[in-house]
This record gives sequence, structure tokens and C-alpha cells, in this order.
Amino acid sequence: MLRVGIVGVGYWGPNLLRCFSDLEGCVVSAVCDRSPTQRETISKRFPQVQCYSDFNELLDNDLVDAVVIATPTATHFELARQALEHDLHVFVEKPLAQTSTQCSALVDLASERNRVLFVGHIFLHAAPVLKLRELILSGELGNVTYISSRRLNLGPVRKDVSALYDLAPHDISMMLYLLGQQPESVACSGLAHLSNDIHDVCNLTLHFAGNRMAMAHVSWLDPRKERTLTVVGDKKMAVYDDLALEKIKVYDKGVSAPGPSSDFAEFQISYRYGGSYSPWIQEKEPLKSECGEFIRCILEGDIPHTDGVNGYQVTRVLEAADSSLRSGGTPIYLEEPVGAVS
Ligand SMILES: NC(=O)c1ccc[n+]([C@@H]2O[C@H](COP(=O)([O-])OP(=O)(O)OC[C@H]3O[C@@H](n4cnc5c(N)ncnc54)[C@H](O)[C@@H]3O)[C@@H](O)[C@H]2O)c1
Repeated sequence: MLRVGIVGVGYWGPNLLRCFSDLEGCVVSAVCDRSPTQRETISKRFPQVQCYSDFNELLDNDLVDAVVIATPTATHFELARQALEHDLHVFVEKPLAQTSTQCSALVDLASERNRVLFVGHIFLHAAPVLKLRELILSGELGNVTYISSRRLNLGPVRKDVSALYDLAPHDISMMLYLLGQQPESVACSGLAHLSNDIHDVCNLTLHFAGNRMAMAHVSWLDPRKERTLTVVGDKKMAVYDDLALEKIKVYDKGVSAPGPSSDFAEFQISYRYGGSYSPWIQEKEPLKSECGEFIRCILEGDIPHTDGVNGYQVTRVLEAADSSLRSGGTPIYLEEPVGAVS
């Protein structure tokens, strides 16, 4: 039985604790949190789990084979590094780390120690996103020309990271996964309204080879909760609404334009307004699927699709978006990655 430790049981950690506790093949044997209040809450609900205030104490007591890190972003790198150096398998909540350099150091360390490094890009374990990818790979949507997404709500406002680092990892991970490509350039503009240096609203634009584009609008300063992602193909289009009952809707709609012509009279656009349908999707809690995949990869010696390299790819885009944000929205061109992460 694989022994799992959860580090950080604030808002999100208890959800991970619940899911790992329900899984077969593993047992949550320890929890670590600096806050006495959080430890007390967990001890009451899960009296069999050992609680620690200090991560080193948990590591030194040989209580776990794997750790799940659900602490603030700034702590991810150091905690993951220490865990890998103790030969533990590591699940890190998104984003994997603050910088791409930190991510590639974790990828190298996991490879040296032969341990699973898993990043919490939860949507890549969600059935609607897997269905969207299936629709793209089957050719039903045709050539995907662009993806746009909106992740909006009133709060929760973060004090440690911007809406870009907090919310956009979800959208970026889905965009890279669905297009199966890394962007060539990244641009981002935004607004820091509630505090000087932390952006509450961000607009991110990614350009890919083959004249493809993806856009994400993320904000915790919006009156309505919205979680949508639209995939536009040259045959069909699909909308993923995570708050709807029927989460994916495929539209048989499109526009075709004639080839380039100098004669304006010949330029006839034709629109196609076909029907729409919602494919059947097996309901499963994405977090449970994600936790199950981490355990499966450890037990079967498999590489997860949300591995350290995937974490690196998303952080690389976040990093470029942040530079763009700080230089007034100038596009940042990404260089080819080197080493283990290429
Ligand atoms: N996948 C998702 O949908 C999702 C949703 C929410 C949060 N998250 C991620 O989960 C992580 C945590 O977010 P949260 O909202 O739970 O934050 P939070 O601030 O509510 O909780 C973090 C907890 O970590 C503890 N902590 C901080 N530093 C520590 C350390 N060095 N050792 C032990 N404990 C420490 C704090 O005491 C706190 O209880 C973030 O990376 C966030 O991006 C993911």
C-alpha cells in the first residue's frame, strides 16, 4: 500500500486529502501544515492521519512514499526539491513552480531519482477536455484555427500571486494539450486594481505555428462566474462550458472564404449554419481521476501526461506572459527549450 502525505491543507488540500483517502492502492498516512488551526481541523476529521507542522519532520520520519504539495506557489519549488531528494514521488499543485528554471531543475532531479513528478493540471484529467481532444484528433472539427477561454468570477482574490499565475495555468494547459503544440509567442495585458503589483484581470494571447492562436481572459474581478473554452475548427466548432449540465456542445457551423482575389466582386463569403449536439460524457470528478492517475503512474511505472515537462511548458508560458504584462503587453518570443525539458 502506497503511503501518501499531503502538504498544505488550507482551501484546496482537504479536497486532495478526501480524494486520496477514497482511492484504492494508497493510504494517506500524514499531513503537514504550518497552521495549527488547519492541523486541528484535519485531526478532528481524520484522526488516523499523523499531523506535522514541519515538512522536514515528515520527511525524516519515513512515513510516506509520495507527497502531494498544495501550498502557496512560492513554496512549491523548495518543498518539491526536498521531497525528490528524499526519493519520494511528488504531486505538485499548479503551477509546478514560479520559474521555468526551477521547473527544469525539478524535472532533472525526478529523472535522476527515477521518481514520478506530477503536476496538478486538473483539466487534463477532466472527461470534457479528453472528449474535446478526441474530437480534434478524430478530425471532426477540421483544422483548429483558434481557441478562446474565459475564467471569470468575483474572487477568490489571492494575495501571493496574480490572476495570471492563479487562474491561467488551467487555460494554458488545456490550450497546449488540445493544440498539441507549444506557442511561438506570448503577449499579455492586464489590470492591477486591488493592489499595486498583483494583476486582478489578465488577457493572454498565444500565437502558434500554422497561423493558430489562443486567447484567455482570466479575472477574479467579475460579477459572474464563467468557465468556458471555445475551439474553432474549419469544419466544426465546439464549446466547453464547465458550469453547464451538457458540458460540450459541437456546432456544425462554419465560414468559408474564397482564395485571395484582387476583384472585390468575386469575394463571396459563405456561411454554414448546421445543427448542434452534446456528446455523451462519462461523469467523473476530475480531481479523483487526477489523484488516481498519480497513484497508477507510481504503481505501474508510467509517465503521466501531466508530468514535470508539462509543468515546465505551462510555467514557461506564464513566465513569458508575466514579462509581457510588465512591459505593457509586448509579445515575448519563446526560445526552443533545451535539455531534459525539450
Ligand atoms: N487545481 C485546482 O483547481 C486548485 C484550486 C485551488 C488551489 N489550487 C492550488 O493549490 C495550492 C494551494 O492553494 P490554496 O488555495 O489551498 O491555498 P491556501 O493558502 O488556502 O492553503 C495553503 C496552506 O499551506 C500551508 N503552508 C504554507 N506554507 C507551508 C509550508 N512551507 N509547509 C507546510 N504548510 C504550509 C498554509 O498554512 C495553508 O494552510 C496552490 O498551488 C493553488 O494554485 C489548485
